[in-house]
Amino acid sequence: MLVNSFYSNNFRNLNIDITDFSSHMNVICGENAQGKTNILEGLWLFTGAKSFRMGNENTFIKFGSDKGVIKSDFVFGGVKNSAKIEFGDKKTAYFNEKALSSPQKLAGKFNAVIFTPDDIGIVRDGPDKRRRFLDVNIGQIFPQYIDVLRDYLRAVKQRNEIIKNLRYDSTSAILLDSFEEAIANCGEKIINYRKNYVETLNKSLLDIYNGLSGGRENIILSYFNKNEEKSLLELLKEARREDSFTGTTSIGPHRDDLSIKINGIDARTFGSQGQKRSVALSLKLSSAEVIKEKTGEYPICLLDDVMSELDETRQNYILNHISGRQSFITCCDPKSIERLQSGKIIEIKNGEVN
Ligand SMILES: Nc1ncnc2c1ncn2[C@@H]1O[C@H](COP(=O)(O)OP(=O)(O)OP(=O)(O)O)[C@@H](O)[C@H]1O
Ligand SMILES: [Mg+2]
Repeated sequence: MLVNSFYSNNFRNLNIDITDFSSHMNVICGENAQGKTNILEGLWLFTGAKSFRMGNENTFIKFGSDKGVIKSDFVFGGVKNSAKIEFGDKKTAYFNEKALSSPQKLAGKFNAVIFTPDDIGIVRDGPDKRRRFLDVNIGQIFPQYIDVLRDYLRAVKQRNEIIKNLRYDSTSAILLDSFEEAIANCGEKIINYRKNYVETLNKSLLDIYNGLSGGRENIILSYFNKNEEKSLLELLKEARREDSFTGTTSIGPHRDDLSIKINGIDARTFGSQGQKRSVALSLKLSSAEVIKEKTGEYPICLLDDVMSELDETRQNYILNHISGRQSFITCCDPKSIERLQSGKIIEIKNGEVN
């Protein structure tokens, strides 16, 4: 994937038309609140996904205006394409000048991975963040995974409804069988997808993390689920009594986790802030490798505020060693760009290129 241009009129605070991006590293620099992250957000929206920012979608249009637009020319699979999104009473997306039925239809036409400072939560926070990381990324390359996940969660909800009453009404046990079969059936598929994804991630993760840490640290990911000797169906049946007290389903992929070890030690518990940030970044960069393996092309990498809290070795690696792909990186500190060996610096002031 290669982005050739980005145009914005009244999208957030941006009024810009950039037509000379580097095919490698583009550093978007400027003081706080100038519009750097807004540029990454604009580019990200061409993936058809929702914004990575909190808040509602009506905030895209510049304050005081009633419409805005973003446009990009890019090359994907050797073919020149264009994407446009108009923001007004509703959001309308265009691909090669043709209106799409919804902006989500841009999915698969423009590929990107995004790293934001909040992604440290993948390492630092609870297992739900790690499961979400897996689910979003697997869903991006295998859309059918999203259907399996939806069916699974529905079956879990139905089992929970019934199991709550099990203590008072033992006849409802018979209803549990079919929901547990559905949970086990979809659940085993989910576990397989996730394990395969983790295995594929591991192929590039070690190299990336090792490079980022200057060769000092290694990393290993493994998918973690309880009691692998028994089938999920057996475990569900065994858990019935206990689950009837809580009205929940205590076993299954909605409770699984991803174990992340740096030099053999758990990153969540013992990792430093910089290590956690490096792990989250490495996970995102590895997810780009998986997309490359699947589509034959690297997605663009959007890296928001990645430099802070990283030492010089790590910053150098990001600036100069993420090769073979186009990246867009925001930063406030002009000192960190001095080490950029090649690429382009784009200075943003008050929503415009300075
Ligand atoms: N709809 C909007 N209309 C006008 N301005 C907006 C709109 N939405 C956000 N902004 C403004 O855009 C400005 C720049 O936001 P952005 O997050 O891109 O800054 P930044 O350069 O990344 O700053 P930082 O270095 O602090 O991360 C903010 O001051 C914000 O108030
Ligand atoms: Mg920002």
